[in-house]
Amino acid sequence: MISTLLFILRGCSAAMAMLLTLGISVVALAAPDIASVSASANTGRERLSLDRGWLFHLGDIVSPEVKGHGASYGYGKAGFAWGPAGTTYDDGDWRTLNLPHDWAVEGPFDAQENLAQGYRPRGVGWYRRYLRIEPAERGRQFELQFDAIATHATVWVNGILVHRNWSGYNGSNIDITPYLRYGDEMNTIAVRADAVPMEGWWYEGAGIYRHAWLVKRAPLHIATDGLHATPRRSPQGRWTIPVAVTLKNGGKAGASAMVEVTLRDPSGVLVASRRSKIQVPVLAQAVAQLPLAIDKPLLWSLEQPQLYQVSAKVIQNGATIDETSLNTGLRDMHFDPARGAFLNGRHVKLQGVSIHQDHAGVGVAVPDAIWAYRLRRLKELGANAIRFTHGAPAAEILDMADRMGFLVMDENRNFNISPDYLPQLEWLVRRDRHHPSVVLWSLFNEEPMQSTEAGYQMTRTMAAAVKALDDTRPVTAAMNGGFFGPYSVAHALDVVGANYQVDAYDKFHQQFPNVPFTSSEDTSAFMTRGVYSTDQSTNVFASYDEDYASWGNSHRDAWEAIARRPYVAGGFVWTGFDYRGEPTPNQWPAVNSVFGIMDLNGFAKNAYYIHQVQWIKDQPLVHIAPHWNWAGREGQQIRVMVMSNADKVALLLNGQLLGEQQVDPYRMNYFQVAYAPGKLEALAYRDGKQVAHTSVETTGAAVRIELVPDRGELCGDGRDAMPITVRALDAQGRPVPLADAEIRFAVHGAGRSLGHGNGDPTSHEDEQGPTRRLFNGLAQLIVQSQDDSAGELVVEASAQGLAPARLVLPVRATAPIATQPASAAPYNTVNYWRISPHSDVRPDPNQALADFDMNTWEYGDPPMLHAAQSAQPGYRIFRASFTPRKKLADGGGMLHFLRLAGRAEVWLDGRLIGRKDDYAPAPLRVALPAGSGARQLNVLIEGQQGQRSGIEGVVRIEPAFP
Ligand code: GAL
Repeated sequence: MISTLLFILRGCSAAMAMLLTLGISVVALAAPDIASVSASANTGRERLSLDRGWLFHLGDIVSPEVKGHGASYGYGKAGFAWGPAGTTYDDGDWRTLNLPHDWAVEGPFDAQENLAQGYRPRGVGWYRRYLRIEPAERGRQFELQFDAIATHATVWVNGILVHRNWSGYNGSNIDITPYLRYGDEMNTIAVRADAVPMEGWWYEGAGIYRHAWLVKRAPLHIATDGLHATPRRSPQGRWTIPVAVTLKNGGKAGASAMVEVTLRDPSGVLVASRRSKIQVPVLAQAVAQLPLAIDKPLLWSLEQPQLYQVSAKVIQNGATIDETSLNTGLRDMHFDPARGAFLNGRHVKLQGVSIHQDHAGVGVAVPDAIWAYRLRRLKELGANAIRFTHGAPAAEILDMADRMGFLVMDENRNFNISPDYLPQLEWLVRRDRHHPSVVLWSLFNEEPMQSTEAGYQMTRTMAAAVKALDDTRPVTAAMNGGFFGPYSVAHALDVVGANYQVDAYDKFHQQFPNVPFTSSEDTSAFMTRGVYSTDQSTNVFASYDEDYASWGNSHRDAWEAIARRPYVAGGFVWTGFDYRGEPTPNQWPAVNSVFGIMDLNGFAKNAYYIHQVQWIKDQPLVHIAPHWNWAGREGQQIRVMVMSNADKVALLLNGQLLGEQQVDPYRMNYFQVAYAPGKLEALAYRDGKQVAHTSVETTGAAVRIELVPDRGELCGDGRDAMPITVRALDAQGRPVPLADAEIRFAVHGAGRSLGHGNGDPTSHEDEQGPTRRLFNGLAQLIVQSQDDSAGELVVEASAQGLAPARLVLPVRATAPIATQPASAAPYNTVNYWRISPHSDVRPDPNQALADFDMNTWEYGDPPMLHAAQSAQPGYRIFRASFTPRKKLADGGGMLHFLRLAGRAEVWLDGRLIGRKDDYAPAPLRVALPAGSGARQLNVLIEGQQGQRSGIEGVVRIEPAFP
């Protein structure tokens, strides 16, 4: 009987709320039976987190050169992977950590390293994890999933190479069913992450920086990304979802089942369902087509991102053996060549940002909850579109974009149609085509071949590959030229995207008036948060929006060029947030970019307010720059910028009106003000009525620290995280804009610090150490709850000359995400046995076997019961080599034969170390003397007529006193 638990975790983080976990209970069976499929094989689906309990080694572990016949013969054999890729490697001194993990952010800044990658060493890292699968689970299908690994990844399971992935932005879904061992034999997952290769010119991080999962399913199951449910609107306005469910049969025979799909509307009401019978041949797949019609469509929009849920079930003999679901939305997105973009028939200008994926303190290992924070900051900014540059984002982020109401340009990383790369694009489309937020597929960013014949052919092929999987969305590419040549890839695109190239906008539109057009990237302006005069000698840029790249524009000019042209669908500001690397136009000691509308923490720069007043229409806004702390500059003119979306603004200093101006929605408003300490106020008017008000005040010296949490509590699931703003206040409780004290943090209780940042693009502080300086008044600390924690997380912050701050954050008991426990590896198992031919007379157990002789002795692993099969009396030698883990090599241990049948002598390196005098099957424990390096084990077993004999169970090397 199936017990299916549906956990919908709500309230932790946006991402957590999206997790839909099907849990099952599995009853342990007594003895393994290789041939049969156990009763639990059909008990439905589990998706278990594998984030916990990885072992990590920084640096490569190079295989010794292979020499000699025997070693060369074994080198390329399945299951014989060398060193840390194999099963018996001693990882006893590796570090234990949880995913997501980015080792680059842990490293030092180094002027000799690559500027593009933020002057951080990258290199190679190894990960290992042990996995125990119960014998009762034999017969289920097991898929190992890595959501992304930077950059080139090779994965082994039990010493067998199972996967390579050559992109740091794509996920890997690996069927590991055939290789698994059950019960006492532990499974070993090994991953070599090679971050020496780069895919970008920005900070990409290094390691397993997204989540990992183990998905357990019935032999007949819905394939990963096999629920295809992309809504369509007919020209007559009728909505359907032509649901297609791909089933895979990993069982032992052809199978038939019923597939049922259901559709729930945004309030959870069942509005459509359908069933169909399906036959799936053994080790094959088949697709069930189950179109659903929707009578009263509730549309997805930016303001009301209403989501439908599509579920698919596989039913056999009345029982549900697999089930999955996804969210989608009904929305009609159309790009008109003359008038721009329309969502559900309403014009929408893409007010977009381009973003990379690193955040302060954590590098690219950004917790889902911090992504929810980043997207919320973009919403508050007034952005309605996001381009995830220049590669696929994590799936959880697109779920958030669906829920929050963003339009997404989903971008492929590698412009390549070879068999190693085209599947990366297909993976992206298959994974993401149900998201209503995704409105454009982007094939590439700025490819030099964009106007060559080869580039055109490649683009055509890629566009066709996309259309074969999803023809409901336009295909675009981010071109930085090459629009007009005969082989321009523009001829192969549905919507042409231009990076910068403002001068080409009108020319393109005139030549191709029927081709929809958008800016895919613009701006590239330089701005440092809290800085009001540019000084390139110290790598800082003022906040008045006057510094930008030669190929770019100011924030104001870039938006004006887009906003004034109806045929330009919109734009994607480079960038929403600062990111590590690409410190253009600076170099060391600058380590971060300064393109962001926000800094690396998500703190607003002045660009934030410029865009906010341009993008948010329905709420009156007014902002002032700069701050009003200019001690020593009394009487001097200070340039004041006022930003508002009202009609008129007035500026007052200490109650005195300094002037009034009509709002300039593109240029913003400027005043020259003779500095006097006090209060500078801006009033905003619409139709003569004051609608908004803001002020900046001269503060006193900083006297104390303040910690401002982003939310009121954390969920105690070990995943939830939150940014805490750290600032310094004056005696009247006002934040001091130029404070730069070094803050020391102590975090204890039910959580921990993940890292911190301050937005200073030249800071070389350790991002995860105990201290962080305020930069122009601010820093950010990121905390995370601990596994199964409840109670309080306490943050203490102290600094010289300032009163300390103490923040107590409640941590709410929260059901943890379903997890596959990490198993410790206290022992090695002895594998890769050779077995001598049968002999009637006692052979020399230590006899030599020629290195080139691969055939006289067999190969095997327990259970090895040759004597039983022949049922003759006589002898066989069972031989294996092993290298004990360091602890056992130093202190000795125990050789534990879980079941040995026949009389036996156990020889180690030519010495008799134990014996068994009975013929009856029984366990045997033999003391293992200390000694390091490869050791040769010979077990001479004597069988009795008609009785089985041999090594029946696993042979483990255990500590002497486990
Ligand atoms: C573009 C590129 C971006 C970034 C930007 C900086 O050419 O697409 O990745 O490098 O320039 O201005």
